Amino acid sequence: MINFELNGQPVQVAADSDTPLLWVIRDHLKLKGSKFGCGMGLCGACSMLVDGESTRTCILPIAAVQGRSITTIEGIGNKNLLSTLQAAWIDASVPQCGYCQSGQLISATALLSKNSNPSDSDIDAGMSGNICRCGTYPNIKKAIKQAAKNMRQDNNSTQAVAYFDPVAAREEVQ
Ligand code: FES
Ligand code: FES
Repeated sequence: MINFELNGQPVQVAADSDTPLLWVIRDHLKLKGSKFGCGMGLCGACSMLVDGESTRTCILPIAAVQGRSITTIEGIGNKNLLSTLQAAWIDASVPQCGYCQSGQLISATALLSKNSNPSDSDIDAGMSGNICRCGTYPNIKKAIKQAAKNMRQDNNSTQAVAYFDPVAAREEVQ
């Protein structure tokens, strides 16, 4: 049994000790926001916060997270209360296909937790290794800078925003 904290809650998982954390989160614990891309630690799609550090979980064996704190994309906000970063992400219309985006948000969250006013080069360094096939990098930079500004102004890490729920919208028109 491996014990760790997931999005603020204690969890216990029975899995082979060398199972990558990504598969434990997706298959055992059914949180599907973190994505599988390369499986080699090269693209960042699988990133989660491990004790606050953006970490490639496709190559992190579950045994390595015993007693540690894991935050997935599901843990940094929800549809009713987005993080300031998520709200800035929407304002800047960052996502295209969306596949890389949870990893991008995780790395940006880690960056802003350490640097409240990142420069262009700080952002390049903090986000390096998070690959986006759709080329959303300029808008990612814009969103991170806007979020940093908002967080400095109100020193408040969350804010309520309107959320478009595509499932509810589809049900309404049927
Ligand atoms: S899937 Fe983990 S870094 Fe690409
Ligand atoms: S939004 Fe498509 S890969 Fe990044």
